[in-house]
Amino acid sequence: MSKVALITGITGQDGAYLAKLLLEKGYAVHGACRRSSSLNLWRLEALGIQDQVNYVPLELTEFTNILRVIEKVKPDEIYNLAAQSFVHVAFELPHYTSMVSGMAVLNFLEIIREVNPWIRFYQASTSEMFGQVVEIPQTENTPFYPRSPYAVAKLFAHWMVVNYREAYNLHASSGILFNHESPLRGMEFVTRKITAGLARIRHGQQDLLELGNLDALRDWGFAGDYVEGMWRMLQQEKPQDYILAMGSNNSVREFVEIAGQAVGFDLIWEGSGAETLGRDRKSGRVLVRVNPEFYRPAEVEQLCGNPARAKADMGWQPKVDLKGLVEMMVHADMDRAARGRIQF
Ligand code: NAP
Ligand code: GDD
Repeated sequence: MSKVALITGITGQDGAYLAKLLLEKGYAVHGACRRSSSLNLWRLEALGIQDQVNYVPLELTEFTNILRVIEKVKPDEIYNLAAQSFVHVAFELPHYTSMVSGMAVLNFLEIIREVNPWIRFYQASTSEMFGQVVEIPQTENTPFYPRSPYAVAKLFAHWMVVNYREAYNLHASSGILFNHESPLRGMEFVTRKITAGLARIRHGQQDLLELGNLDALRDWGFAGDYVEGMWRMLQQEKPQDYILAMGSNNSVREFVEIAGQAVGFDLIWEGSGAETLGRDRKSGRVLVRVNPEFYRPAEVEQLCGNPARAKADMGWQPKVDLKGLVEMMVHADMDRAARGRIQF
């Protein structure tokens, strides 16, 4: 009998890659989606799996709705990936973000406890919980210091998972995932904004790329590698929390430079802070400008994770490095731009 998985956030970046992985492993995959006037399946279509998933409407803030879905689907494993996941927006929507990215997790845990405590549960925790980091690199034992309503909501969920595991013996684990990207990344996140923006500039469809803090440091990996770590966590005999990260970091500025090279630009910088400009050395044309509109009320300046536990316990090994990731994203966006298919 094939295992049954319920994935919330199936329409997002990780949901699509995880669904593909689980289908390849022979799972029956149920994808929970919020109700909308039209289901947005572009990521699942890009991976060619849109017809292999059973879609179930699910409202994360409705306890009884989740209860009914779990009773109907009877999952062996639940992967809770749904969230208001954009940090910048969380400052505008703190209450909504807390409900969707925080409180909803308590609904799942309570229902699992009551309905079937054998269900294995994965929670999408985040490196954002380290926020204003107190040590470098961050490990599973590093104290948290969240810097946004998003991170505070995720921290609530994170500790609920720990508590339900300890109090009720649930097989519940949190993956503390550092930034992971792909050609399926949402356009509002900085990596995709850069690769799509530069591809559009290259194709004459955009004049300039406007960014916020160029000096923020992130530990960037490939989403396809990270969803495999999620699955491995739920196959462990003993549930616990794991960091998934590359163990190195780069600035937003460096990401722009690498992406620029892949597109065929040679970027040089002038000015500082909000006056920074990025110019193409060959043509002299300004391609990048800082716009303080994209600064955050409280910034996470640097993140760098140590994935040693995940490597030792689960044999997790990321296959795509930063250069490979950037080239993959640029290639996809150049192709889309050539076909006039990048919309902001
Ligand atoms: P994403 O692309 O933004 O996808 C988010 C998913 O959540 C989408 O399917 C979205 O549905 C769904 N969603 C949002 N609000 C919802 C609501 N009110 N009710 C139901 N569903 C809702 O995010 P991702 O990059 O795949 O990340 C997956 C999870 O990992 C998220 O929980 C994120 O916070 C966490 N995480 C991500 C990273 C990263 O670097 N990618 C790192 C650490 C943790 P729609 O399509 O309808 O909008
Ligand atoms: N989005 C965005 N847009 N970020 C910018 C911009 C811009 O124009 N310019 C600079 N940045 C900086 C942000 O200030 C931040 O320091 C960094 O680029 C990364 O921003 P995002 O790509 O939006 O990602 P994030 O790190 O805030 O959050 C992502 O990773 C988290 C894990 O650490 C999201 O995927 C979260 O859901 C996830 O938890």
